[in-house]
Amino acid sequence: MQHITVIGGGTMGNGIAHVFAQHGFEVTLVDVAPAALEKAIATITRNLDRQVQKGTLSEADKTATLARLTTTSDLKSGVSKADLVVEAATENVNLKLKIFGEMDQFSPENAILATNTSSISITQIAAATKRPAQVIGMHFMNPVPVMKLVEVIRGYATSDEVCSQIMALSSQLNKIPVEVNDYPGFVANRILMPMINEAIYTLFEGVSDVEGIDTVMKLGMAHPMGPLQLADFIGLDVCLSILRVLHDGFGQPKYAPCPLLVNMVTAGKLGVKTGEGFYTYTPGSKDLVVAPGFKK
Ligand code: NAI
Repeated sequence: MQHITVIGGGTMGNGIAHVFAQHGFEVTLVDVAPAALEKAIATITRNLDRQVQKGTLSEADKTATLARLTTTSDLKSGVSKADLVVEAATENVNLKLKIFGEMDQFSPENAILATNTSSISITQIAAATKRPAQVIGMHFMNPVPVMKLVEVIRGYATSDEVCSQIMALSSQLNKIPVEVNDYPGFVANRILMPMINEAIYTLFEGVSDVEGIDTVMKLGMAHPMGPLQLADFIGLDVCLSILRVLHDGFGQPKYAPCPLLVNMVTAGKLGVKTGEGFYTYTPGSKDLVVAPGFKK
């Protein structure tokens, strides 16, 4: 594989493009929003600079990485030479089905089509194409240049060969791939989201407060971040939508989202991205301050 196209230049897309370009692949980054492409290149440059400062990347490798990256707002030309397309656009079923239809129509016949979706069925996405055996989940973790895991998700029709190719490619990126099957939440979110939901229920029922719950999980379970802080980091809207996928997919009450989570999302308190969730976030400050509504 030589040419990788990444669809969507947001939080995940820019990280995925960064990692492929750094490992020698020619990368085309596609986003409908030209401003998102500008921001993506600025973010990649800043993150590469950080690697140079840390001594983990040479200045020459940084320049070569940036030279391997091109951007476009035109999906059709952007995928026309791809060996692999990794879709990392907004998490919305209808949008992804439409994008996969276009990826299938305009990319070379033998190209593999991957999605970074956190929760949408790979099998459903594959059904929007004429090559379901070549469709697979490639679920990177945020921040992509730092996190080692790639959850490789086999759809119902994904071929053994495509799966082996994506496992090998993930290792080539210096990541650790884990192969999983296509059921709601895959492995990562099926285990993580009920834990986050339970932490919110624990707060909702007054068992402890925000700092108490996060401290128990950090110090008691050696988690680097408490579940409420992690929920703010992921985005409370994203957590809610994944819980709904689990609830709909399995039909079990244990996945029902906590009413407090639903209320916070309805009120627009989505975590880091809106400046407030369980904590408040001030740009430039690393202090963790409990949000006014949760102060003792
Ligand atoms: P984001 O909102 O930061 O970026 C999405 C980008 O997609 C935007 O720049 C938007 O302009 C672009 N886009 C929308 N429609 C498009 C189209 N038709 N063609 C091309 N680009 C289009 O979203 P984020 O957080 O990067 O998420 C992307 C995917 O990665 C989602 O499927 C999400 O579930 C998944 N994911 C997110 C993680 C996270 O921590 N944010 C972690 C793992 C997976």
